[in-house]
Amino acid sequence: MKYLLLLFFPLSLFSQLTTTDFKAVRLKAGIQNKQFVYQVSFQGKQVIAPSTLGFDLANPSRPLDTFELIHIDSSTSNSVWRPVWGEEDEIYDFHKKVVFHLKTNSKPTVLLDIEFKISKEGAAFRYLFPKQENLQHFIVKDEKSTFHLSENVLAFWIPGDYDTNEYLYNTTRLSEVDALKAAALEKDIAVTALVDSKTIQVPLMLKSDRGLYVNIHEAALIGYPAMLLSLNKNNYSFTSHLVPDAVGNKAYLETGFSTPWRVINVAEKARDILSSRLIVNLNEPTKIAKTDWIKPQKYMGVWWEMHIGKGTWQMTGGKHAATTENTKKYIDFAAKHGFDGVLVEGWNKGWEDWFGNWKEDVFDFVSPYPDYGLNELKEYAKSKGVKLIMHHETSGAVTNYERRMDKAFQFMKDNEINTVKTGYVGKIIPRGEHHDSQWMVNHYQRVAEKAATYGIMVDAHEPVHPTGLHRTFPNWMSNEAARGTEFNNAPTLGIVPEHQTILPFTRLMGGSMDYTPGLFHFELNQFEKERKQKVLSTLAKQLALYITIYSPLQMAADLPENYEKHLDAFQFIKDVPVNWSETVVLEAEPGEFVVMARREKNKGNWYVGGITDEQARKLSIPLNFLKPNKKYQAILYKDGADAHYASNPSSYQITKQLVDASTNLSVDLAAGGGIAIQILEL
Ligand code: NOJ
Ligand code: CA
Repeated sequence: MKYLLLLFFPLSLFSQLTTTDFKAVRLKAGIQNKQFVYQVSFQGKQVIAPSTLGFDLANPSRPLDTFELIHIDSSTSNSVWRPVWGEEDEIYDFHKKVVFHLKTNSKPTVLLDIEFKISKEGAAFRYLFPKQENLQHFIVKDEKSTFHLSENVLAFWIPGDYDTNEYLYNTTRLSEVDALKAAALEKDIAVTALVDSKTIQVPLMLKSDRGLYVNIHEAALIGYPAMLLSLNKNNYSFTSHLVPDAVGNKAYLETGFSTPWRVINVAEKARDILSSRLIVNLNEPTKIAKTDWIKPQKYMGVWWEMHIGKGTWQMTGGKHAATTENTKKYIDFAAKHGFDGVLVEGWNKGWEDWFGNWKEDVFDFVSPYPDYGLNELKEYAKSKGVKLIMHHETSGAVTNYERRMDKAFQFMKDNEINTVKTGYVGKIIPRGEHHDSQWMVNHYQRVAEKAATYGIMVDAHEPVHPTGLHRTFPNWMSNEAARGTEFNNAPTLGIVPEHQTILPFTRLMGGSMDYTPGLFHFELNQFEKERKQKVLSTLAKQLALYITIYSPLQMAADLPENYEKHLDAFQFIKDVPVNWSETVVLEAEPGEFVVMARREKNKGNWYVGGITDEQARKLSIPLNFLKPNKKYQAILYKDGADAHYASNPSSYQITKQLVDASTNLSVDLAAGGGIAIQILEL
């Protein structure tokens, strides 16, 4: 056996560590000085310096920090699968697997397996607690995974918080990370549970001086709390920090359990980080057998007008937005312009006292306000070929939601509504649980699973960071889980132009985002004169976001009357697909710019989106992804020559030209601007 292993892993001759290579990625792992150590390099450059793995268990108390190797299994797997919806028709999963079967040195002995998967995109590991005689139920006091970077790299990070991921990103060297200082600038986040100055969140994007882009995240977060990372500035090493429950425990487990994957994506080109499918590949195939009812959609909503003070969610006060009449206006507009759905927020009783009191029974999810004629609207929407989208704001009262979920989903079914936007604004009940603790992670999954049994698609706002679970539960279409459009309206920090260039490298690594793009009106004092906030973007950039931020549920966030003023530009939002056959990331640099091309599902038409930060930029876009020897009509939605995100956001121009695979488009992006291109096969 030993001889065989040496044959497979020749480098083992020189160290106790086992080496596994997959193209440019090299993993070395094994026992060193009784500890379990792993390290990762890429093209011969160190990515993760030797880093220890382990656990601290409570009840029974067991330190899992020194080990003996029992044996190693390894295998290679090569497959391809077809997502129900997404950015491409087929996803390739070619990886090597190495499992270290370990037992602790300390007595009583605990068995623990550490499993690695290595692909051309990076390396990932998880822990498996096998069924064993001396351990069944246990509590995780701490997971002690470390990621030793050993270099003062540039990081794109948000403060570690058990309750929210809606922060603006900070771009600093690791030596300059100060999560509490960054969070102190944030005044507009409803509920926060900050950790300390050195703890930040995943997905974490890093860039080294030696030309490597590294992304750390987790995959398949099931039955376990979310992982944050605590930084040690002495050696630039991170240690996993799990979100605790009310009594400070991290996870309640039973042997036979595997943890989520800890994933390290690495590339020499930033754009390759965005093309990586390592995270989704680490998730289990779909658990939903029949998926033909799961449909990507474009939607509008009785939504932004409440955020900017035209209307209110609550009925009392005379400005209720979710009235029968107003909803009909949206249905008419959506029908006229070919949208699939209309989301209606504030349709149900409870908004008069929905936030801030940490109370149990806020909404019942089945009682419309008297001025919202659901029956009438159901028929009206149907006659117009538009579907209503349900809104379940839980206000953090999750026990209440769990008790009422069956009735709420049945109510949706009775009213022929098959998509729900859920929301978790507020402190969580069970009191003491957090948005990202084990109990809540289980809750989001229960919602997805239960919704599937009712044929319902889910879009969760304020959930834990996504980890690729849309592969397993494809009806869990989208999530917010980061700072989205609503924050344009936040009085303090808002959304700065670089934000959307960082999102693909961070939040979107785990899956699609309901960012809700498409604002065409940039001064937010349209209805309340005292509002000073502005949308710091150009109009063309708002269009480009439909390409650079993927979601199978994509909203046109602005008001019909704001779209009416720019129907020529609105045409792009009408035309842009939400499901794709192919995606090519053309160029990208976190914090600077992102350019992507996508081919419409089962068609030959392509769409290109390019966005920039606060710098104006010239982009050269080679169209060599087009079919050779074919002509295409390109419609370019560009920033106007005088466009600027702060002073002249709504200046745009639309031009047409014939293109083919040999065309190299040269385009100018305004400061905070963008470009959206439709390329139609002729
Ligand atoms: C926060 C969500 O992100 C937003 O979209 C929604 O309108 C409000 N909560 C109210 O539920
Ligand atoms: Ca939100």
